[in-house]
Amino acid sequence: MNRYGRPSGWEAPAGPGPRILLLGASGFVGGGLWSHLAPRHAVVGTYATRAAPGLVRLDLRDETRLAALAADGFDLVVHAAGLVPLEAAEADPALARLLNVRPVEVLLDALRGSAAKLVLLSSDNVFDGTRPRYTEADPRSPVNVYGRTKAAAEDLLLAEGGHLVVRLPLVFGRGPWANTFLARLAAPTTPARTDLVCAPVYLPSIGPALARLWHRTGVLHYGGADVVTRFELMSRVQRALDLPTRVVPVRGPQAHAECPRPPRLVLRSTRHRLLGPALDTALAHLTAQGRGPGTS
Ligand SMILES: NC(=O)c1ccc[n+]([C@@H]2O[C@H](COP(=O)([O-])OP(=O)(O)OC[C@H]3O[C@@H](n4cnc5c(N)ncnc54)[C@H](OP(=O)(O)O)[C@@H]3O)[C@@H](O)[C@H]2O)c1
Repeated sequence: MNRYGRPSGWEAPAGPGPRILLLGASGFVGGGLWSHLAPRHAVVGTYATRAAPGLVRLDLRDETRLAALAADGFDLVVHAAGLVPLEAAEADPALARLLNVRPVEVLLDALRGSAAKLVLLSSDNVFDGTRPRYTEADPRSPVNVYGRTKAAAEDLLLAEGGHLVVRLPLVFGRGPWANTFLARLAAPTTPARTDLVCAPVYLPSIGPALARLWHRTGVLHYGGADVVTRFELMSRVQRALDLPTRVVPVRGPQAHAECPRPPRLVLRSTRHRLLGPALDTALAHLTAQGRGPGTS
């Protein structure tokens, strides 16, 4: 086994840690991972449309380039790229499959026979939200296109063995460049659901958690400590940062385009003890980081 849990004929030399390919480093979660990993490891990060300093351009649909990059001697390929907005996936299931499922197939083909491990970021949306909490042992039953594509990508990866799926809940915080979470609070009013419950995880905690878990294989959950409604989360972030928006409680889908959402998503793990920080701790850190919504 190499140090990152993949069978290997060789042992990676002791040194500064794994050589990492971070797909989707320009995104919200990928940016948070980049901030933590790039100063500590040899990381190549990619972007598709949002260029950022130090990142290389890659379109997941360019399969030749994706395969060549993945096979370039990395220890870990952390896959945080794809079509993430739920409504966009619901509106175009073929595109969602093309960006969320097919690249995993290409990556697995490219990595087969090497010691490199694929770490796929997946989502709590693989569950239907009818249980009080979900562990890694619970059966999946996605209710939307996005969740179905994430489950399909997981299946590909798990069939291969030796790789890792990390399921995340709603992520909140400030990224170094993409800020899809704070962008939700950028309008004068912010409708927020009182009937959707989550255990959101704070962005800066994901990189350190991932680095403690990436030697594992199979499926792992990494959830936030506190269980709140979307309305409570948005209200507390608004107050913490004193953002110029009014968070308005709403129930049920507000727009035609909105896709089915699981009502209660609380990720818990039976395979490790890591949890994201409590909301109070996370909000104190977010406030200290700076004020105001970022760009999307
Ligand atoms: N955000 C959450 O709350 C959350 C929760 C659970 C799981 N996740 C998972 O975390 C991962 C990242 O999500 P995110 O919120 O960071 O999404 P995001 O901000 O939309 O970032 C998506 C990333 O994918 C890249 N990308 C999109 N289309 C691409 C293409 N055709 N070729 C190459 N790259 C492409 C984007 O590049 P450009 O921006 O440069 O175009 C960006 O780097 C996803 O796997 C998602 O399922 C996120």
